[in-house]
Amino acid sequence: MTSEQKEINRIGVLTSGGDSPGMNAAIRAVVRSCVFNEITPYGIYEGYDGLINNNIQKMNAGSVKHIIYQGGTILKSARSQAFKTEEGMEKAWKNVEKHELDAMVVIGGDGTFKGAMKFGDKYDFPIVGIPGTIDNDIYGTDFTVGFDTAVNTVVEAVDKIRDTATSHSRLFFIEVMGRDAGFIAMYSGIAAGAEEVLIPEKDRDIERLFESLERTSRRQKTSRLVIVAEGDTNGSVYELENQVQERFGDRYETKVTILGHVQRGGRPSCADRVLASRLGVLSVEALMEGRRNAMVGVRNRKVKFTDFDQATKRNPQMDEELMRVADIISI
Ligand code: F6P
Repeated sequence: MTSEQKEINRIGVLTSGGDSPGMNAAIRAVVRSCVFNEITPYGIYEGYDGLINNNIQKMNAGSVKHIIYQGGTILKSARSQAFKTEEGMEKAWKNVEKHELDAMVVIGGDGTFKGAMKFGDKYDFPIVGIPGTIDNDIYGTDFTVGFDTAVNTVVEAVDKIRDTATSHSRLFFIEVMGRDAGFIAMYSGIAAGAEEVLIPEKDRDIERLFESLERTSRRQKTSRLVIVAEGDTNGSVYELENQVQERFGDRYETKVTILGHVQRGGRPSCADRVLASRLGVLSVEALMEGRRNAMVGVRNRKVKFTDFDQATKRNPQMDEELMRVADIISI
Protein backbone atom coordinates (compact mmCIF):
# COMPACT_ATOMS: atom_id res chain seq x y z
CA MET A 1 0.00 0.00 0.00
CA THR A 2 1.42 3.43 -0.94
CA SER A 3 1.11 6.40 1.42
CA GLU A 4 -1.68 8.03 -0.67
CA GLN A 5 -3.72 4.82 -0.71
CA LYS A 6 -6.70 4.82 1.56
CA GLU A 7 -6.90 1.97 4.02
CA ILE A 8 -9.57 -0.56 3.10
CA ASN A 9 -11.90 -1.22 6.01
CA ARG A 10 -15.22 -1.89 4.25
CA ILE A 11 -15.85 -3.65 0.97
CA GLY A 12 -19.19 -3.91 -0.84
CA VAL A 13 -19.92 -6.88 -3.07
CA LEU A 14 -22.60 -7.23 -5.75
CA THR A 15 -23.66 -9.50 -8.60
CA SER A 16 -25.00 -7.95 -11.78
CA GLY A 17 -26.23 -8.97 -15.24
CA GLY A 18 -27.30 -12.53 -16.06
CA ASP A 19 -26.74 -14.81 -13.06
CA SER A 20 -24.36 -17.74 -13.40
CA PRO A 21 -23.71 -20.88 -11.35
CA GLY A 22 -20.77 -20.20 -9.03
CA MET A 23 -21.67 -16.59 -8.27
CA ASN A 24 -22.57 -17.70 -4.74
CA ALA A 25 -19.19 -19.36 -4.34
CA ALA A 26 -17.57 -16.08 -5.41
CA ILE A 27 -19.66 -14.04 -2.95
CA ARG A 28 -18.75 -16.49 -0.20
CA ALA A 29 -15.05 -16.19 -0.96
CA VAL A 30 -15.18 -12.38 -1.04
CA VAL A 31 -17.02 -12.24 2.29
CA ARG A 32 -14.81 -14.82 4.01
CA SER A 33 -11.67 -13.22 2.66
CA CYS A 34 -12.82 -9.84 4.01
CA VAL A 35 -13.47 -11.33 7.44
CA PHE A 36 -10.10 -13.10 7.38
CA ASN A 37 -8.42 -9.75 6.69
CA GLU A 38 -10.49 -7.84 9.28
CA ILE A 39 -12.44 -5.94 6.63
CA THR A 40 -16.20 -5.56 7.03
CA PRO A 41 -18.10 -6.98 4.02
CA TYR A 42 -21.33 -5.40 2.78
CA GLY A 43 -23.75 -7.22 0.51
CA ILE A 44 -25.36 -5.01 -2.14
CA TYR A 45 -28.63 -6.59 -3.32
CA GLU A 46 -30.02 -6.57 -6.88
CA GLY A 47 -26.84 -5.38 -8.54
CA TYR A 48 -26.35 -1.68 -9.21
CA ASP A 49 -30.06 -1.09 -8.54
CA GLY A 50 -29.36 -2.04 -4.92
CA LEU A 51 -26.56 0.49 -4.75
CA ILE A 52 -28.95 3.17 -6.01
CA ASN A 53 -31.83 2.12 -3.74
CA ASN A 54 -29.69 1.55 -0.65
CA ASN A 55 -30.43 -2.16 -0.56
CA ILE A 56 -27.20 -2.82 1.31
CA GLN A 57 -26.52 -4.99 4.34
CA LYS A 58 -23.54 -5.77 6.49
CA MET A 59 -22.46 -9.41 6.17
CA ASN A 60 -20.32 -11.78 8.18
CA ALA A 61 -18.78 -15.21 7.70
CA GLY A 62 -22.09 -16.84 8.71
CA SER A 63 -24.12 -14.93 6.09
CA VAL A 64 -22.54 -17.06 3.39
CA LYS A 65 -22.71 -20.46 5.01
CA HIS A 66 -23.90 -23.37 2.86
CA ILE A 67 -24.14 -21.37 -0.33
CA ILE A 68 -21.11 -22.75 -2.16
CA TYR A 69 -23.22 -25.48 -3.77
CA GLN A 70 -26.21 -23.31 -4.67
CA GLY A 71 -26.89 -21.94 -8.16
CA GLY A 72 -28.11 -18.37 -8.73
CA THR A 73 -26.98 -15.56 -6.47
CA ILE A 74 -28.10 -14.88 -2.88
CA LEU A 75 -27.47 -11.19 -3.56
CA LYS A 76 -29.86 -11.32 -6.53
CA SER A 77 -29.03 -9.65 -9.79
CA ALA A 78 -30.33 -7.00 -12.18
CA ARG A 79 -29.51 -5.39 -15.49
CA SER A 80 -29.73 -1.85 -14.14
CA GLN A 81 -30.80 0.85 -16.56
CA ALA A 82 -30.81 3.52 -13.83
CA PHE A 83 -27.08 3.05 -13.19
CA LYS A 84 -26.40 4.16 -16.76
CA THR A 85 -27.72 7.64 -15.91
CA GLU A 86 -25.91 10.47 -14.09
CA GLU A 87 -28.74 10.66 -11.59
CA GLY A 88 -28.52 6.94 -10.84
CA MET A 89 -24.77 7.10 -10.35
CA GLU A 90 -25.10 10.08 -8.00
CA LYS A 91 -27.63 8.23 -5.86
CA ALA A 92 -25.37 5.19 -5.82
CA TRP A 93 -22.41 7.28 -4.73
CA LYS A 94 -24.41 8.79 -1.84
CA ASN A 95 -25.02 5.25 -0.57
CA VAL A 96 -21.36 4.35 -0.93
CA GLU A 97 -20.60 7.35 1.30
CA LYS A 98 -23.41 6.56 3.70
CA HIS A 99 -22.04 3.07 4.36
CA GLU A 100 -18.46 4.35 4.22
CA LEU A 101 -17.50 1.73 1.66
CA ASP A 102 -13.83 1.97 0.71
CA ALA A 103 -13.99 -0.36 -2.27
CA MET A 104 -16.22 -2.76 -4.14
CA VAL A 105 -16.08 -6.17 -5.83
CA VAL A 106 -18.45 -6.60 -8.77
CA ILE A 107 -19.27 -10.04 -10.14
CA GLY A 108 -20.70 -10.16 -13.66
CA GLY A 109 -19.95 -9.72 -17.33
CA ASP A 110 -19.28 -7.04 -19.85
CA GLY A 111 -22.11 -4.66 -18.84
CA THR A 112 -21.15 -4.99 -15.17
CA PHE A 113 -17.55 -3.99 -15.88
CA LYS A 114 -18.58 -1.08 -18.11
CA GLY A 115 -20.68 0.30 -15.24
CA ALA A 116 -17.85 -0.28 -12.76
CA MET A 117 -15.35 1.48 -14.99
CA LYS A 118 -17.50 4.58 -15.32
CA PHE A 119 -18.40 4.71 -11.62
CA GLY A 120 -14.85 4.02 -10.46
CA ASP A 121 -13.45 6.79 -12.70
CA LYS A 122 -16.12 9.31 -11.83
CA TYR A 123 -15.75 8.99 -8.06
CA ASP A 124 -12.16 7.76 -7.84
CA PHE A 125 -13.44 4.62 -6.18
CA PRO A 126 -11.50 1.32 -6.19
CA ILE A 127 -13.39 -1.54 -7.87
CA VAL A 128 -12.19 -5.01 -8.84
CA GLY A 129 -14.28 -7.33 -11.02
CA ILE A 130 -14.80 -11.08 -11.14
CA PRO A 131 -15.93 -12.53 -14.49
CA GLY A 132 -19.25 -14.25 -13.87
CA THR A 133 -21.29 -15.22 -16.90
CA ILE A 134 -22.19 -18.51 -18.56
CA ASP A 135 -21.19 -17.16 -21.98
CA ASN A 136 -17.41 -17.19 -21.37
CA ASP A 137 -17.26 -14.04 -23.48
CA ILE A 138 -14.85 -11.97 -21.39
CA TYR A 139 -11.38 -11.08 -22.57
CA GLY A 140 -8.59 -11.69 -20.03
CA THR A 141 -9.55 -15.03 -18.54
CA ASP A 142 -9.61 -18.54 -19.95
CA PHE A 143 -12.91 -19.25 -18.26
CA THR A 144 -15.65 -17.23 -16.60
CA VAL A 145 -17.49 -18.40 -13.49
CA GLY A 146 -20.54 -20.38 -14.62
CA PHE A 147 -19.38 -21.50 -18.04
CA ASP A 148 -18.30 -24.98 -16.99
CA THR A 149 -21.60 -25.72 -15.23
CA ALA A 150 -23.68 -24.33 -18.10
CA VAL A 151 -21.85 -26.29 -20.73
CA ASN A 152 -22.24 -29.49 -18.69
CA THR A 153 -25.97 -28.79 -18.37
CA VAL A 154 -26.12 -28.43 -22.16
CA VAL A 155 -24.20 -31.64 -22.78
CA GLU A 156 -26.51 -33.57 -20.48
CA ALA A 157 -29.56 -32.22 -22.31
CA VAL A 158 -28.08 -32.80 -25.77
CA ASP A 159 -27.19 -36.41 -24.88
CA LYS A 160 -30.86 -36.93 -24.03
CA ILE A 161 -31.95 -35.36 -27.28
CA ARG A 162 -29.57 -37.71 -29.09
CA ASP A 163 -31.47 -40.70 -27.65
CA THR A 164 -34.79 -39.60 -29.05
CA ALA A 165 -33.29 -38.24 -32.27
CA THR A 166 -31.74 -41.65 -32.95
CA SER A 167 -34.93 -43.53 -32.10
CA HIS A 168 -36.84 -41.53 -34.72
CA SER A 169 -33.99 -40.83 -37.15
CA ARG A 170 -34.57 -37.10 -36.81
CA LEU A 171 -32.56 -33.95 -37.37
CA PHE A 172 -32.59 -31.57 -34.39
CA PHE A 173 -31.69 -27.90 -34.30
CA ILE A 174 -30.74 -27.09 -30.72
CA GLU A 175 -30.35 -23.47 -29.71
CA VAL A 176 -28.01 -22.73 -26.83
CA MET A 177 -27.24 -19.41 -25.12
CA GLY A 178 -24.51 -17.07 -26.25
CA ARG A 179 -25.63 -13.73 -27.64
CA ASP A 180 -22.24 -12.71 -28.94
CA ALA A 181 -20.13 -15.77 -28.31
CA GLY A 182 -20.21 -19.38 -29.40
CA PHE A 183 -18.25 -20.97 -26.56
CA ILE A 184 -21.23 -22.86 -25.11
CA ALA A 185 -22.16 -24.09 -28.59
CA MET A 186 -18.61 -25.10 -29.54
CA TYR A 187 -17.73 -26.92 -26.32
CA SER A 188 -21.07 -28.69 -26.02
CA GLY A 189 -21.02 -29.51 -29.75
CA ILE A 190 -17.67 -31.24 -29.46
CA ALA A 191 -18.57 -33.00 -26.20
CA ALA A 192 -21.96 -34.24 -27.42
CA GLY A 193 -20.73 -35.18 -30.88
CA ALA A 194 -22.94 -32.72 -32.77
CA GLU A 195 -22.89 -33.02 -36.54
CA GLU A 196 -22.67 -29.24 -36.98
CA VAL A 197 -22.03 -26.23 -34.73
CA LEU A 198 -23.06 -22.73 -35.78
CA ILE A 199 -21.48 -19.82 -33.89
CA PRO A 200 -21.39 -16.04 -34.31
CA GLU A 201 -17.57 -15.94 -34.49
CA LYS A 202 -17.49 -18.00 -37.64
CA ASP A 203 -19.72 -16.71 -40.36
CA ARG A 204 -20.53 -20.04 -41.91
CA ASP A 205 -23.04 -19.70 -44.66
CA ILE A 206 -26.05 -21.94 -44.88
CA GLU A 207 -24.60 -23.72 -47.94
CA ARG A 208 -22.02 -25.33 -45.69
CA LEU A 209 -24.77 -26.79 -43.56
CA PHE A 210 -26.54 -28.01 -46.70
CA GLU A 211 -23.34 -29.68 -47.91
CA SER A 212 -22.89 -31.39 -44.57
CA LEU A 213 -26.50 -32.58 -44.60
CA GLU A 214 -26.02 -33.87 -48.12
CA ARG A 215 -22.90 -35.78 -47.06
CA THR A 216 -24.41 -37.28 -43.92
CA SER A 217 -27.68 -38.20 -45.62
CA ARG A 218 -25.71 -40.24 -48.14
CA ARG A 219 -24.09 -42.11 -45.30
CA GLN A 220 -27.44 -42.75 -43.66
CA LYS A 221 -26.66 -41.37 -40.22
CA THR A 222 -29.39 -42.34 -37.82
CA SER A 223 -29.63 -38.92 -36.16
CA ARG A 224 -28.25 -35.45 -36.73
CA LEU A 225 -27.78 -32.68 -34.19
CA VAL A 226 -27.04 -29.11 -35.18
CA ILE A 227 -26.11 -26.89 -32.24
CA VAL A 228 -26.76 -23.22 -32.86
CA ALA A 229 -25.54 -20.36 -30.65
CA GLU A 230 -28.35 -17.85 -30.18
CA GLY A 231 -26.17 -15.10 -31.68
CA ASP A 232 -25.45 -17.01 -34.87
CA THR A 233 -25.82 -14.82 -37.93
CA ASN A 234 -27.73 -17.36 -40.05
CA GLY A 235 -30.97 -16.51 -38.27
CA SER A 236 -33.06 -18.23 -35.65
CA VAL A 237 -33.26 -22.00 -35.25
CA TYR A 238 -36.77 -21.84 -36.72
CA GLU A 239 -35.53 -20.02 -39.82
CA LEU A 240 -32.79 -22.59 -40.21
CA GLU A 241 -35.29 -25.39 -39.85
CA ASN A 242 -37.49 -23.83 -42.55
CA GLN A 243 -34.62 -23.51 -44.97
CA VAL A 244 -33.59 -27.11 -44.41
CA GLN A 245 -37.18 -28.27 -44.78
CA GLU A 246 -37.49 -26.50 -48.13
CA ARG A 247 -34.44 -28.25 -49.49
CA PHE A 248 -34.36 -31.58 -47.67
CA GLY A 249 -37.96 -31.98 -46.53
CA ASP A 250 -38.21 -35.32 -48.26
CA ARG A 251 -35.11 -36.70 -46.53
CA TYR A 252 -35.10 -35.20 -43.04
CA GLU A 253 -37.70 -34.99 -40.37
CA THR A 254 -36.72 -31.94 -38.32
CA LYS A 255 -37.33 -30.75 -34.77
CA VAL A 256 -36.27 -27.66 -32.81
CA THR A 257 -35.28 -27.43 -29.15
CA ILE A 258 -34.41 -24.16 -27.44
CA LEU A 259 -32.65 -24.93 -24.17
CA GLY A 260 -33.12 -21.43 -22.75
CA HIS A 261 -32.68 -20.49 -19.11
CA VAL A 262 -32.20 -24.03 -17.86
CA GLN A 263 -28.57 -23.33 -18.84
CA ARG A 264 -28.25 -20.59 -16.25
CA GLY A 265 -29.28 -22.57 -13.19
CA GLY A 266 -28.16 -25.55 -11.20
CA ARG A 267 -25.50 -26.51 -8.71
CA PRO A 268 -22.13 -25.18 -9.78
CA SER A 269 -19.56 -27.72 -10.96
CA CYS A 270 -16.34 -28.33 -9.05
CA ALA A 271 -14.41 -26.29 -11.63
CA ASP A 272 -16.73 -23.29 -11.18
CA ARG A 273 -16.63 -23.50 -7.39
CA VAL A 274 -12.83 -23.58 -7.35
CA LEU A 275 -12.49 -20.77 -9.91
CA ALA A 276 -15.03 -18.60 -8.06
CA SER A 277 -13.38 -19.21 -4.69
CA ARG A 278 -9.97 -18.40 -6.06
CA LEU A 279 -11.11 -15.20 -7.78
CA GLY A 280 -13.11 -14.11 -4.72
CA VAL A 281 -10.07 -14.27 -2.44
CA LEU A 282 -7.81 -12.66 -5.04
CA SER A 283 -10.21 -9.77 -5.63
CA VAL A 284 -10.11 -8.75 -1.96
CA GLU A 285 -6.33 -9.11 -1.81
CA ALA A 286 -6.02 -7.04 -4.97
CA LEU A 287 -8.04 -4.21 -3.46
CA MET A 288 -5.90 -4.35 -0.30
CA GLU A 289 -2.81 -4.03 -2.48
CA GLY A 290 -4.22 -0.92 -4.14
CA ARG A 291 -5.44 -2.42 -7.39
CA ARG A 292 -8.51 -0.85 -9.01
CA ASN A 293 -10.41 -0.66 -12.27
CA ALA A 294 -9.44 -4.20 -13.23
CA MET A 295 -10.83 -7.69 -13.54
CA VAL A 296 -9.13 -10.67 -11.99
CA GLY A 297 -9.01 -13.79 -14.12
CA VAL A 298 -6.97 -16.93 -14.70
CA ARG A 299 -4.97 -17.49 -17.89
CA ASN A 300 -2.86 -20.56 -18.46
CA ARG A 301 -3.46 -21.44 -14.80
CA LYS A 302 -1.93 -18.14 -13.65
CA VAL A 303 -3.68 -15.18 -12.07
CA LYS A 304 -4.05 -12.32 -14.49
CA PHE A 305 -5.42 -8.80 -14.03
CA THR A 306 -6.97 -7.07 -17.02
CA ASP A 307 -8.04 -3.41 -16.96
CA PHE A 308 -11.79 -2.98 -17.33
CA ASP A 309 -11.05 -0.92 -20.38
CA GLN A 310 -9.44 -3.90 -22.12
CA ALA A 311 -11.80 -6.53 -20.69
CA THR A 312 -14.79 -4.67 -22.12
CA LYS A 313 -13.26 -3.55 -25.43
CA ARG A 314 -11.71 -6.79 -26.60
CA ASN A 315 -13.40 -10.06 -27.40
CA PRO A 316 -11.97 -13.41 -26.43
CA GLN A 317 -10.98 -15.34 -29.52
CA MET A 318 -12.58 -18.65 -30.31
CA ASP A 319 -9.78 -21.18 -30.55
CA GLU A 320 -9.24 -22.04 -34.25
CA GLU A 321 -8.04 -25.46 -33.23
CA LEU A 322 -11.32 -26.22 -31.48
CA MET A 323 -13.21 -25.39 -34.67
CA ARG A 324 -10.91 -27.64 -36.65
CA VAL A 325 -11.39 -30.48 -34.18
CA ALA A 326 -15.17 -30.06 -34.32
CA ASP A 327 -15.07 -30.23 -38.12
CA ILE A 328 -12.88 -33.32 -38.23
CA ILE A 329 -14.75 -35.40 -35.68
CA SER A 330 -18.18 -34.60 -37.07
CA ILE A 331 -17.66 -36.03 -40.57
O1 F6P B 1 -25.35 -13.07 -20.58
C1 F6P B 1 -25.75 -14.36 -20.32
C2 F6P B 1 -27.02 -14.71 -21.03
O2 F6P B 1 -27.45 -15.91 -20.49
C3 F6P B 1 -26.93 -14.77 -22.56
O3 F6P B 1 -26.39 -15.97 -23.04
C4 F6P B 1 -28.37 -14.58 -22.94
O4 F6P B 1 -28.47 -14.06 -24.25
C5 F6P B 1 -28.85 -13.58 -21.94
O5 F6P B 1 -28.03 -13.74 -20.80
C6 F6P B 1 -30.29 -13.70 -21.55
O6 F6P B 1 -30.57 -12.69 -20.63
P1 F6P B 1 -31.96 -12.53 -19.86
O7 F6P B 1 -32.04 -13.62 -18.85
O8 F6P B 1 -31.86 -11.19 -19.23
O9 F6P B 1 -33.02 -12.63 -20.90
